[in-house]
Amino acid sequence: MMACMWINAGRVRWKTLFFTLCLFMLGSVTGQARYSILEEQAKGSFVGNIARDLGLDVARLVSGKARIITKGSREYVDLNRDKGTLVIKERIDREELCAKTTPCSFSFEVILEKPIQLYRVIVEVIDINDNSPSFPKEEINLKIVESVAAGTRFSLVSADDPDVGKNDIQKYTLKPLDHFKLEVQSQPDGGRFIEMVLQNPLDREKEETHTLVLVAADGGDPHRSGTVRIHITVLDANDNAPVCSQAVYKADVKENSPEGTVVTTVSATDADKGHYGEVTYAIPHATKDAKQLFEVNIETGEIKVVGKLDFEKSKTYQLNVQASDHGGYTDTCKVIIHIIDENDNVPTIQLMSFSNSVSEDSPPGTTIAVFNVDDEDSDGNGVVKCSINSDIPFKVESSLTGYYTIVTDNLLDREILAEYNITITVSDKGSPPLSSSKTINVKVSDVNDSPPQFDQSEYSKTVPENNSPGFSVFTLSATDSDWGQNARISYFLEEKEINGFQLSSLVSVNSENGLIHALKSFDYEQIKWFEFNVTARDAGSPPLSSVATVRLIVQDQNDNPPQVLYPVQTGGSQVAEMVPRSADVGYLVTKVVAVDVDSGQNAWLSYKLQKATDRALFIVGLQNGEIRTIRQVTDKDAVKQRLTVIVEDNGQPSRSASVIVNVAVADSFPEVLSEFTDFAHDKEYNDNLTFYLVLALAVVSFLFIACLVVIISVKIYRWRQSRVLYHSSLPVIPYYPPRYSDTLGTGTLQHVYNYEVCRTTDSRKSECKLGRAGSQNVLIMDASSSGTMQRIQSEKSILDEPDSPLEVRTHYCFE
Ligand SMILES: *[C@@H]1O[C@H](CO)[C@@H](O)[C@H](O)[C@H]1NC(C)=O
Repeated sequence: MMACMWINAGRVRWKTLFFTLCLFMLGSVTGQARYSILEEQAKGSFVGNIARDLGLDVARLVSGKARIITKGSREYVDLNRDKGTLVIKERIDREELCAKTTPCSFSFEVILEKPIQLYRVIVEVIDINDNSPSFPKEEINLKIVESVAAGTRFSLVSADDPDVGKNDIQKYTLKPLDHFKLEVQSQPDGGRFIEMVLQNPLDREKEETHTLVLVAADGGDPHRSGTVRIHITVLDANDNAPVCSQAVYKADVKENSPEGTVVTTVSATDADKGHYGEVTYAIPHATKDAKQLFEVNIETGEIKVVGKLDFEKSKTYQLNVQASDHGGYTDTCKVIIHIIDENDNVPTIQLMSFSNSVSEDSPPGTTIAVFNVDDEDSDGNGVVKCSINSDIPFKVESSLTGYYTIVTDNLLDREILAEYNITITVSDKGSPPLSSSKTINVKVSDVNDSPPQFDQSEYSKTVPENNSPGFSVFTLSATDSDWGQNARISYFLEEKEINGFQLSSLVSVNSENGLIHALKSFDYEQIKWFEFNVTARDAGSPPLSSVATVRLIVQDQNDNPPQVLYPVQTGGSQVAEMVPRSADVGYLVTKVVAVDVDSGQNAWLSYKLQKATDRALFIVGLQNGEIRTIRQVTDKDAVKQRLTVIVEDNGQPSRSASVIVNVAVADSFPEVLSEFTDFAHDKEYNDNLTFYLVLALAVVSFLFIACLVVIISVKIYRWRQSRVLYHSSLPVIPYYPPRYSDTLGTGTLQHVYNYEVCRTTDSRKSECKLGRAGSQNVLIMDASSSGTMQRIQSEKSILDEPDSPLEVRTHYCFE
């Protein structure tokens, strides 16, 4: 039987186990000892006194050659035979030896020879905290989508600590804990299951990464710990809608801005990342107008003008720009666009009422036109100033807003200006201002306010006397500055009596043109001038008239020859002026007195001595008609002296009268008487007549001789021809005068004139001896055909004179 020995080195709690082992080992082992040592003891460290514990003498150990027999490969303990103690031979690592098994022990046998004795020694290795907890990795990277709900668990790897018991991992801690909490669950197999539980949702947009530290701590003294860092990357989720950077965008844009003008740029941000954070812009819901005018850039959010903005159509536009991400979230940015007015509308003028004619007697303030001015622009651009040209008697007045009237500003006078062009100019106050204008034409209608005006108030016209009835004297004319009927002038005579005649029987006036006719032949000697009034009257209503005075002066004509008043010319009786033989030179014999009823030059008489018995004895005063002697009278001078004095007026042509003055050169009256019984009438000569007579005589004589020569030549020729024909027995060819031979051929008609001049000493016996009576033209040359009765008488006496000069009548006979 083997006795089990209590090894005092052992612990109480191991008693039961020890006992059991003793029983087990009984067959082969005589005794055993147990020791406990700490791991990691240095070599040579004391383990136990085996000699004492097994009750063996050191000598026995030596004699018995005690030694250790190890079954395993490694010998941790060595036996010191001399001392009977066990020492550490090799460092013991409990974790290597037993890993997690506890308690951890190893055993070996101590064998003795002579007698063989076998002892078992069990060494328990006690753990020390020589290992720290460790995680398989130093870092853990986690990617977590931000949208993950709270409560979601994320398992973590647990740490490992080779130590056991108290020195094993006792506690895990996680820091920080703002999002996650740590849950550690013990597994049935003794392991630990570590999880992070999401407590507060993650937000990538707030924090994209989180770093947590997980600490595993053991219970050793001092404790050791191991850490692992957990990097969490929060993955994005489309959890954010785009957000407009402003709730309302306001923009001003001028009307008529060119296409492409940037109005504003909207921007929306999306906190999401990547695809979910890309924002696009669109205007899905807009009025048709707004769609045509504005466009948003899909990517930049720039809003541009693409149409023609017109302030007058719409002053504001509201666009709802939709900003969308690619995940279907949207936001709407409101854009309010104010259109700024530009001065792009010309003010317009609309005539509401207009009378294009205004009477010239209209009072100032008469309305001519009413018009309306409109400008579609607003503010200053639509404020309109209205004016008319200033040089006219009109003004513009504003009545209602936008309505204006043009009124007369002064009295009008059609006679000064009959029409006006009123130019209405309207301009707005824009910059630059726009303006427009309209011209209206106003005619001033006539009022009969101007009387006819004669160009002279008095007319003085001359009419030569002996005018033919109906003679146009002159045309007076009046003008009327009015118009139409108001200017149509008629002329009238104011009836009156002149020298017993009604004026209307003397003159007439053409009522249309003012031509004045004489109705009678005026005789200066009866009426020298007369005056009358002519009225010019217009056809207005009421008519206006004015009067001009016309003085017609009858102009003297030399229609009366001088009349000799003395000496009186009597038919038969002889009156003679006496000149005594003793008369001196310059003795005034008599004075011829003549008058002329004409006037002026026509009555200015001059006296000439035309013929005298003795031209050397008398002289006639040119101006006064005084007959004076120019030499002493002698006894040889004849008693009867006969003087012909011609009295001429100074008219054109002049008229004259002649008077015969008989002068008796005698000392006594009986002597005179005897002498004057056969006192013959003296003959009257006319110097011109004499000249003509001599000329005519010469011409006639020449022609007569020429005619005679021609006639005789013809007669002789004919006689000779008949003689030749008779002798030659030739057929008779009738002769035609040369004028018949060329009626058709050359076209030039040969005229042959035969002149026969008849000359006689007495015209009453004269006759044309050649030519045909039917074709005679008789020109009677008579130098004194305009003579008066007295003259004719004197001619008669000349013709009756036996020794009168040749009286020649020239007969031109045309064939
Ligand atoms: C008015 O205008 C018309 C047409 O232009 C022109 O013939 C006329 O002479 C003008 N009248 C005046 C008074 O200027």
